Amino acid sequence: MESHKQCRAVKGTRDILPPDSALWNWFEQRARAVLESYNFREIRLPIFEETELFARSLGADTDVVGKEMYTFEDRDESSISLRPEATASVCRAYIEHGMHLLPGNQKLSYVGPMFRRERPQRGRYRQFYQIGAEVLGSSDAPAIDAEVLEMLLVLFRHVGLVNTTLYINSVGCQQCRPTYVELLRQELRKAKDQLGPDSQRRIETNPLRVLDSKLPEEQAVIERLPRISEHLCAACRQHFSELKDELNLREICFEENWRLVRGLDYYTRTTFEMTATGLGSQNAVCGGGRYDGLVELLGGRPGVKGIGFAIGTDRAILSLEAGARVPQLPGLNVFIARRGARAYPVALNIAKKLRECGLVVELPAEETNFKKALGMADKLGARYGLIIGEDEAASGTFTLKRLADADQRKLTENELLEFLESERRGSGA
Ligand code: HAM
Repeated sequence: MESHKQCRAVKGTRDILPPDSALWNWFEQRARAVLESYNFREIRLPIFEETELFARSLGADTDVVGKEMYTFEDRDESSISLRPEATASVCRAYIEHGMHLLPGNQKLSYVGPMFRRERPQRGRYRQFYQIGAEVLGSSDAPAIDAEVLEMLLVLFRHVGLVNTTLYINSVGCQQCRPTYVELLRQELRKAKDQLGPDSQRRIETNPLRVLDSKLPEEQAVIERLPRISEHLCAACRQHFSELKDELNLREICFEENWRLVRGLDYYTRTTFEMTATGLGSQNAVCGGGRYDGLVELLGGRPGVKGIGFAIGTDRAILSLEAGARVPQLPGLNVFIARRGARAYPVALNIAKKLRECGLVVELPAEETNFKKALGMADKLGARYGLIIGEDEAASGTFTLKRLADADQRKLTENELLEFLESERRGSGA
């Protein structure tokens, strides 16, 4: 114990303190309820996996695998990485547990932290949180894609995130994409000297990613590039067209964005993203798409198809806060102010009963005078102060004071329980 240097949270990580943590819990509970209503069931996954899993799934040339993973050697010298996302783990678990033998599609959801060593800024952290869902099975029907998108919109509506835009695209399949990528590469080579160093490198490693570039000086070149929609094979074109019909049938508004290629290599056909307002440059609150070959690539059964998404909870909550659409969440209902030896057992007893009724009750460990106690109740944002003095204890009554307007009433135990219970039901007190 030599140094007294203050420790701080690691760059890009943050503490979620009360009352924000209540908002996070509320958000996740609402999201879970929507996921359950669409018959998704939770899968709990490890926070770290073999590095190989992510390299094979996301692609060795992606930014996430190439630069952003927290990778370390375990004592047995295997390479381990903190998960940068969870789709790879879901597919690994699906294969490992023979889930293809289970009836129907596997509809799995997850909630938890992910880790990417990105440059931190508002809405971009090194430990961030996702709520995700994946559908795995033998069918790639566009109705599955559409249901996933419908659920996403219902979920966002449920949490009050309404200023969102849904962008969709198709990135083709193993049959048609390689030809398009080669065409893109040729066109990009012709315009190489008009591109920055990152895009120049990507011409050879991953030309699709050039479409993602936000550099103003590259936009004119990108706009003239061939578009994948004109190079999809017949099956992919039909899949995309049926998806759009399905979305229209469900009255889902969307915009097509031919440049939506996403940053991970496993995608096939449908890709999508949702943006929300109030976030500045990090405005994607959700991303996802289809990954039909991934299970096979990871050594699983050929023919298993997959689609899913992940919501960035940090950003979704930032957007809610920026739009002042944060709900009023229940806080402290009753602060008990007691005085005198006879009042103590009465206070213990009533605190227990009120908590059993679902109320949030604070019973201070030490007694103070009533004025001080009620001042504290006010500072803590309590709705009521419950006063139990020698008089009250002797007469079996309670004095209940509403702190907002100092309305005060004397009640028996039954009256008190009834009154607070009906208040709670009526106004969410
Ligand atoms: P992603 O687009 O990499 O996709 O991440 C999904 C969402 O996570 C983003 O839209 C964003 O809201 C949030 N996010 C990503 N990185 C950060 C960060 N550094 N800080 C804060 N939020 C961040 C995936 O992860 C895929 N696994 C989604 C998926 C599921 N595709 C198919 N199934």
